[in-house]
Amino acid sequence: MERTVVATGPEETQRVGEELAGRLKDGDVVALVGELGAGKTTLVQGLARGLFVKEDVLSPSFVLARSHKGRLTLHHLDAYRINAPEELAEVGLTELLPPETGVTAVEWADRIPELIPADAIWVTLSMPHPQRRRIEIRGGRPQL
Ligand SMILES: Nc1ncnc2c1ncn2[C@@H]1O[C@H](COP(=O)(O)OP(=O)(O)O)[C@@H](O)[C@H]1O
Ligand SMILES: [Mg+2]
Repeated sequence: MERTVVATGPEETQRVGEELAGRLKDGDVVALVGELGAGKTTLVQGLARGLFVKEDVLSPSFVLARSHKGRLTLHHLDAYRINAPEELAEVGLTELLPPETGVTAVEWADRIPELIPADAIWVTLSMPHPQRRRIEIRGGRPQL
């Protein structure tokens, strides 16, 4: 999987997530990278929409992780406050990388690279302009 798009406005960022969600399988990990405000949470909201999650998806910063039921359960992790991989293990969250059931989306995945599975889908977001986001998607399990 390899794709780069420029999204104009948050709705387009969500649509990229929604489209990606349609291709996700049980056990997949979506590793999100991008500075504060790059659109990581917005893209996860799109993933949620594509997975038919009913509830609102907010930034999980303060709780580290939230799980939402959908076509597949969406586990939403935020590694922003993680300073060492052991911290994630201490709170029992490494079992979501990869998850036994459902899919896991990790914001700030580049802070815990050693915990991200080799076949994760990496989504890198950047801000070429305040009203636009560049979204690069690569990796994932080879399609059989
Ligand atoms: N394609 C886009 N163009 C312009 N603004 C966007 C786009 N995608 C998301 N945003 C906006 O960027 C801001 C930060 O988004 P957010 O998803 O919270 O970023 P992050 O989780 O990476 O910190 C939000 O106000 C969101 O609506
Ligand atoms: Mg966020």
